[in-house]
Amino acid sequence: MFDVNKIRNDFPMIRNHPDLIYLDSGATSFKPQCVIDEVVKYYEWENANIHRGDYDISFRVSKIYDDTRKTVADFIGAERPECIVYTYGATSSLNTVAINAGKKFLQKGDVILTSQVEHASDILPWFKAAEASGAEIRYIPFDEHAVFNLDEYEKCFSDNRVKIVALPYVSNVMGYIYPVKEIVKIAHEHGALVSIDGAQAVPHLKVDVSDLDVDFLSFSSHKMLGPAGIGILYGKFDLLEQMDPIFYGGGSNARFYENGEIILQKTPEKFEAGTPCIEGVLGLRKAIEYLESIGMDEVMEYGIELSDYFIEKLEQLDNVEVYNRGSKAGIVTFNLKGIFAQDAASYFNRLGISVRTGNHCAKLLHHVIHVNETIRASMHIYNTKEEIDRFVDVIRDTTIEKCVDSVL
Ligand SMILES: Cc1ncc(COP(=O)(O)O)c(C=O)c1O
Repeated sequence: MFDVNKIRNDFPMIRNHPDLIYLDSGATSFKPQCVIDEVVKYYEWENANIHRGDYDISFRVSKIYDDTRKTVADFIGAERPECIVYTYGATSSLNTVAINAGKKFLQKGDVILTSQVEHASDILPWFKAAEASGAEIRYIPFDEHAVFNLDEYEKCFSDNRVKIVALPYVSNVMGYIYPVKEIVKIAHEHGALVSIDGAQAVPHLKVDVSDLDVDFLSFSSHKMLGPAGIGILYGKFDLLEQMDPIFYGGGSNARFYENGEIILQKTPEKFEAGTPCIEGVLGLRKAIEYLESIGMDEVMEYGIELSDYFIEKLEQLDNVEVYNRGSKAGIVTFNLKGIFAQDAASYFNRLGISVRTGNHCAKLLHHVIHVNETIRASMHIYNTKEEIDRFVDVIRDTTIEKCVDSVL
């Protein structure tokens, strides 16, 4: 049974800051003790490089590192461990896909179909892919609540030019869960590949890439209770086989010659030049085991419960405008009427409440929702309804004077 108090005990950040209400897990999540212990254990007991040492400690750590590919593959339903590429985070995964698409999968006149809801990491690389290939960017029309509409999406394929679809599974500002399975089905019917930004989805939902039939999925460990500096690119094996590494160097080549010829390692090692974030991989494994011990269905249900509860409470207040009523993944985005978002956040900060304000790296979203700056409260399994109640009480009593005082 889901027991939030027991879960809270697993997180040193919560034990060490008992009065803090942390509502910025969309930026990065707290880490449970088992993840921290694993990282410390690596440095205290297993500190060796992988695949490079002829001694026991290196063998041991290499094996755990290699085996973790299967842990990740099983976690997201990937067909085989070789479909899992270790990267430095969602941003580096998304760049790997887009840079390759620009070189290999796109040509002049093709269309990259995306949206104005995208995080910078899922749009700037596509701008570059368009520049490199001569393809053009097309945005799916959304209503003013940034709600995804499958009919509008399908219309975007009418000229048969869409070759790549790049969308999030969960928007980092709106918190909506996109209908990825249908998105992929329609794209494939029109011969397009689909790259999904899973940064805000994998930490909160049960994701099954085989069932979704998605071509690429990118995500970061640090948003899913794991260490920073490590991310995952899932790709269908035959697509990964066609792609080139972004970086070249040690570990990713089998041989090279004076004439510049490089014989790369097999997929996925060919993408992983240089010493990777070893402790990050070990910690990610623990984070996955931890999430699985709770159960991803329970994690998802709890995220929905918190979002629904928070939005319902906020909607009872006269001084608040909520922008994402349909949010389901623990993300609630709102403003206090007549108060600049950052001023409100400074006031909340003085009361021990951590939120994020601004455009949340989604710098085109204001064209859709017609608001530049918002307050985003993003939650994870360690947040509680009591925290929401305390925050809602603060919001109810927030005035412009209190906010200005806290800024001065
Ligand atoms: C939707 C989305 N995509 C991509 C990223 C980039 O993730 P990272 O900074 O871990 O590379 C983020 C980070 O906030 C995000 O929210």
